[in-house]
Amino acid sequence: MYSKKVMQYFMKPKNQGSMKNPDGFGTVGNPKCGDIMTVYIKVKKNKNKEIISDIKFETLGCAAAIATSSMVTEMAKGKSLDDAFKISRQNVADELEGLPPAKMHCSNLAEGALKRAIEDYRSKAGSKTKARELAAKAAKKTKKKK
Ligand code: FES
Repeated sequence: MYSKKVMQYFMKPKNQGSMKNPDGFGTVGNPKCGDIMTVYIKVKKNKNKEIISDIKFETLGCAAAIATSSMVTEMAKGKSLDDAFKISRQNVADELEGLPPAKMHCSNLAEGALKRAIEDYRSKAGSKTKARELAAKAAKKTKKKK
């Protein structure tokens, strides 16, 4: 039996849909049931912190998958990447006032897709920084030769 909150988040999911030009995204599948979920994030820098300014999800999943992904997006929005990365499936289930034990695995999708989206953003941001460093080094060398 689902809690009232699970039913609310399932019937009226928040942040559902795709996102154009996300800064990061992550897709995970659930091997137990074959369901799949994608989380998209936009990141803004604010006083040396990287904040999730917008977040969306898409899922082909059950009621619990929809409710947990909707909840995880609500929990992560406005948080720093470090804090959002710490959100666990148990945190999500607690915020939903519990999940039936047989449905706990559904919350793996929400946690996993969010973590992958953050990792995707970080790997892209890392390669952009690396590219900028290499361009700066190349520019210095060119200056010296002149
Ligand atoms: Fe597949 Fe819930 S049964 S995610």
